[in-house]
This record gives sequence, C-alpha cells and structure tokens, in this order.
Amino acid sequence: MLKVFRLAFVHFDTTDVDRLVRYYTDVLGLSVTRQDGDAAYVSTSIDHHNLLVTRAAEAGVRGFGLQLAPGISVEDAAAELGRLGLTHEVQEHPTPGIPSWVQFRDLDGYTVYLFSEMEMVGRGFGARGVCPNKVGHLSLRVRDAKQSVEFYKSFGFINTDWIEDFFGFMTCNRDHHVLNFCTSDRKALHHVAFELRDYSHLVRSMDDLGRHQIPVLWGPSRHGAGHNIATYHRDPDGNMVELFTDADVFIPELNMFEPRPWHEQFPQRPRVWGTDECITRWGTAFEQSLV
Ligand SMILES: [Fe+2]
Repeated sequence: MLKVFRLAFVHFDTTDVDRLVRYYTDVLGLSVTRQDGDAAYVSTSIDHHNLLVTRAAEAGVRGFGLQLAPGISVEDAAAELGRLGLTHEVQEHPTPGIPSWVQFRDLDGYTVYLFSEMEMVGRGFGARGVCPNKVGHLSLRVRDAKQSVEFYKSFGFINTDWIEDFFGFMTCNRDHHVLNFCTSDRKALHHVAFELRDYSHLVRSMDDLGRHQIPVLWGPSRHGAGHNIATYHRDPDGNMVELFTDADVFIPELNMFEPRPWHEQFPQRPRVWGTDECITRWGTAFEQSLV
C-alpha cells in the first residue's frame, strides 16, 4: 500500500508569475529558491520549494506534491498506481530540487506528484512578512467529497472529520488535516492554508496584511473540525489563503485528538459536524460563501 507523510508543495498556475511571487515573498515572507522563465520555486524555510508557480493561460491550483514515506521509492509508487489502475508517468529530474517523481491525475483531474526526495536548499525563515511555519493543508473543490476521501485512503490518508456529508478532512500525519475535499459543482481551489506559530503570530499576520491593504475576509475565529484559529484572505490571483494556528493534533494509534480545554468531547474523536457548529466555536458571524 502507498503511504505518504506530508504535503510538500502546492502547484499554482498563474497568468502573472511575478505578481503572485511578489505576494508570497513580500506579504507572506516566503523566499524564492529559483526562478527561471515561466516557473518559480518558493520555500517557507528549508525545502527547495513548497510552492511551484508556473505561467499558464488561467490561474488556479494545478496540483500538489506528496512525499512518500521512507522506504517507498518512486518505482514502488508507480507499481502501486498501476495496481490501482491509474495512468501515471515517472519523470527523472522533472523540476529543480526533486530527482524524480511519478505523477498522475486524481478523480477530479488534479495533478498529484509522488516523490521520495526533495533538496533542502531554502534559506530559512525571512525577517519580513508573515513567515509561516509551513504549508499546513490544501482544500480542494471536488465532484464528490465522499469519493475523494475513499480515493485518498489508498495513499495512507485517514479521514479525521466531516462537515455533514460535503466536506471531508484527511491526514497523513499528526496534523488534523493535510487535505480536505468539498463537494462542489466546479473544480477549483477552496483554500490553501499556512500554519503560524501561535496566537500572537496570527495577530501580527493581520498587521502584515493591513500594511499591504489586503482585507481579512473572515476571522479570526476557532473552527469546530480541527479547532484551528483561522483567518482568510485572498492572494492577487483570488486564491483563498487561510492563516491558522492551534489546530488539533491527531493520534492515529488511538483514533483521537490530543485533549485540549476547548474540546467538546473527551476524548475528542473523528466525527461528523453540523455546518453551523463547525464554522465557528466563538459565535462569530461568518460568510456563507466561505463554505
Ligand atoms: Fe482550512
């Protein structure tokens, strides 16, 4: 069986590479490890890249890279994809920083890159801008969240929570969610989320956004599923960006989350949430368009 252990990078298409990279560097505080022609490689700290930005006719999320658990090679992954009946392609030196990957399209046509190794050539954390810990999770609009959740179980993902039957949360490590899927009538990004260090960092991030005249669309407030404290804004391409902290820590061995004082249940286990109880635990007004 396939097993991945982290979301390593998100692949964005954009009509204006320079403009999008300027936002992710000047506002979010990431660093460019390489930019050549129509591609830019952007790092949160030490990875070669956590964002791959390529020029295209239309902006949006193209796909994402998942790193394979130790001991699973790209060739092993390709063989397993074959067993799953998925058309795939192994590529040597597909991009700087990654020696090889196997790529395939998932149920909705998002490109998934599975790889074993990524160079660590990033420059550490910057001194200006938000400077998040990492890309925390990626939320995608899909035709059928139930089907997507079942599909990604084949890659070692565990379903941690649901909002009713249309928003499924999945993890491949101890983070409450690494991928989530929202049933939708269109294929598009729902949001990409960056993890911050603590509450004070979240407040400072809003000052950073304010300095750049970027409005916070919603939050901060604590969610139900995941219990993360989150804010949302948009990057220059209109991609929704979540900044969050304090998300639940999953203990797969016990099928529960590490206890926290704000939990509703002890032990807090994966469950189905109603929409209203999940969007905010603080009673903060929210915009239905975010769901
Ligand atoms: Fe999120």
